[in-house]
Amino acid sequence: MPKNILVIESSHNGANSLSRKVTAETLAQLQAKYPGSAVTTRDLDKNPLPHLTGEVIAAFYTPADNRTPALQEAIKLSDIVTDELLAADIIVIGAPMWNFNIPSVLKAWVDHVARAGRTFMYSATGPVGLAKGKTAYLALSRAGVYTDGPMKQMDFHDTYLRSVLGFLGITDVHAIVAEGAAMGADGAKNAIASAEQQLVAAIQKAA
Ligand SMILES: Cc1cc2nc3c(=O)[nH]c(=O)nc-3n(C[C@H](O)[C@H](O)[C@H](O)COP(=O)(O)O)c2cc1C
Repeated sequence: MPKNILVIESSHNGANSLSRKVTAETLAQLQAKYPGSAVTTRDLDKNPLPHLTGEVIAAFYTPADNRTPALQEAIKLSDIVTDELLAADIIVIGAPMWNFNIPSVLKAWVDHVARAGRTFMYSATGPVGLAKGKTAYLALSRAGVYTDGPMKQMDFHDTYLRSVLGFLGITDVHAIVAEGAAMGADGAKNAIASAEQQLVAAIQKAA
């Protein structure tokens, strides 16, 4: 059955990007699995979202009917990217590791889509994610190795994305990790080969 696929890119590296290679391959495999799928791409390097301002946050917490024209304008971009997320069945997120976490352009996207009343809410027993029924594929690239070994505790990359997506209700999350790219002459080649294997396994599992 065709799906609505949302692709989020955050690498600055253009055609040389490792994470973009993995997002492209992930998208190709998803399109083969779900022919006729609709694809929306949001490239946060080419078109970065601004950081949240006081005005945008004020608009978040003002009921839609009470927003002034200025607040309506301030919330427009957030509404567009939140609508894109809510409309998607599948989200593919390309994210290089930057200083042990995600690039700040991707963090800005998270800040725009984490919306009380739209993508999460607080119940009497705690937070409830509202962006349910979606599958996420994370195309993660790193110079070093963080899935195991001494740097594992420095992984705020996979762990952060899984945490925040889970908070929004997206719990079916598959990480495809291209890591160790800067380690040795064959680092990048090995990282891609391993990512391809992880991707095949993840797509096989998909319903
Ligand atoms: C600003 C910046 C910060 C980085 N921080 C880390 C890091 O903390 N750990 C790491 O292993 N690699 C780090 N890297 C390396 C990238 O994660 C690595 O080169 C990755 O393959 C880049 O993916 P891309 O080609 O999709 O941009 C950093 C790169 C940049 C540009």
